[in-house]
Amino acid sequence: MSNIWKTLPKPFSVLAPMDDVTDLVFREIVCETSKPDLFFTEFANCEALCSEGKKFQESRLRLTNLQHPIIAQIWGVEPEHFKTVAQHIRSLGFDGIDINMGCPIRVVVKNGACAGLIRDRKRAHEIILATQEGAGYLPVSVKTRIGLNTIITEDWIGFLLEHHLAAITVHGRTAKEQSKVPNHWDEIGKAVQLRDRVAPNTIIVGNGDVKTWEEALQITKVHGVDGVMIGRGIFENMWVFERDQQRTHEPREIIDLLKKHVALFDHTWGTTKKFDVMKKFFKIYVNGFAGAKEMRADLMESKTSDDVLQKLQAFPQNPTGI
Ligand SMILES: Cc1cc2nc3c(=O)[nH]c(=O)nc-3n(C[C@H](O)[C@H](O)[C@H](O)COP(=O)(O)O)c2cc1C
Repeated sequence: MSNIWKTLPKPFSVLAPMDDVTDLVFREIVCETSKPDLFFTEFANCEALCSEGKKFQESRLRLTNLQHPIIAQIWGVEPEHFKTVAQHIRSLGFDGIDINMGCPIRVVVKNGACAGLIRDRKRAHEIILATQEGAGYLPVSVKTRIGLNTIITEDWIGFLLEHHLAAITVHGRTAKEQSKVPNHWDEIGKAVQLRDRVAPNTIIVGNGDVKTWEEALQITKVHGVDGVMIGRGIFENMWVFERDQQRTHEPREIIDLLKKHVALFDHTWGTTKKFDVMKKFFKIYVNGFAGAKEMRADLMESKTSDDVLQKLQAFPQNPTGI
């Protein structure tokens, strides 16, 4: 089987993994609006996946045929668990496995997982080797930041580049910076230069603050990344990966998409996921027309998918702009 990273166009687009956002259902909706060249799942925890209570985590590793190519993202602390989970992922039909070494959540970092691995090279090394062993023919990649408390791009990315990874996604901030400062694109550029010197086969994806595909193209020209990952940009534009940005999308079309999303959420998750998870999407869809704010407030009061669908029935065919 070929390494999926090597088959992508240059530059390629990636929808960022976002916990409780880029689930099976949201990705299916994005397939209808503007599909990126590559999807990631939300991160799934290896320790939980190797325990009795694995059901919830397994729901994070569901996919449909439409969603290929797609990378399963995992996180945790025990190398053995990474190996077991990587073997399992191989049987699920994913196109690759990504190790999260970037999540900055304090308790996670304190336990030595995700961005906590930046200061524990021995464990990071063991986790990569164990995942590669379990993954077999599937390519293994890492998504990370440029340091834990201080910027150490060349030191940290240099270490990762010694591991024959298929790809490294670099979010241009330290874990300490979270998302509070502008993304350091110049540091991502340094990672690309280092890659060119020491591991030319490893793909570098740049990530941080990109809101449009035009911006992504500009960045690839300036900093030389092979692809660009967009996360929060999709909250502002569901068609962010559409190459023809001249096309406009009317509120009616966007509300119809919300209806589809709500119905699919209900059909897929039933009562296994809290309905409140759906509410964070209202801001994406209900926007840009007179009365949108009031409509959002009303939708936030909903308790079920049926409530939402009923409220959306009253949406006019041709709403006026703001
Ligand atoms: C709600 C939310 C959930 C996230 N969950 C994950 C995750 O599961 N795995 C991961 O690697 N990054 C996660 N991230 C980080 C994003 O993938 C991305 O690196 C970050 O948002 C910066 O990119 P952006 O500026 O394009 O949003 C999350 C970000 C957000 C906003």
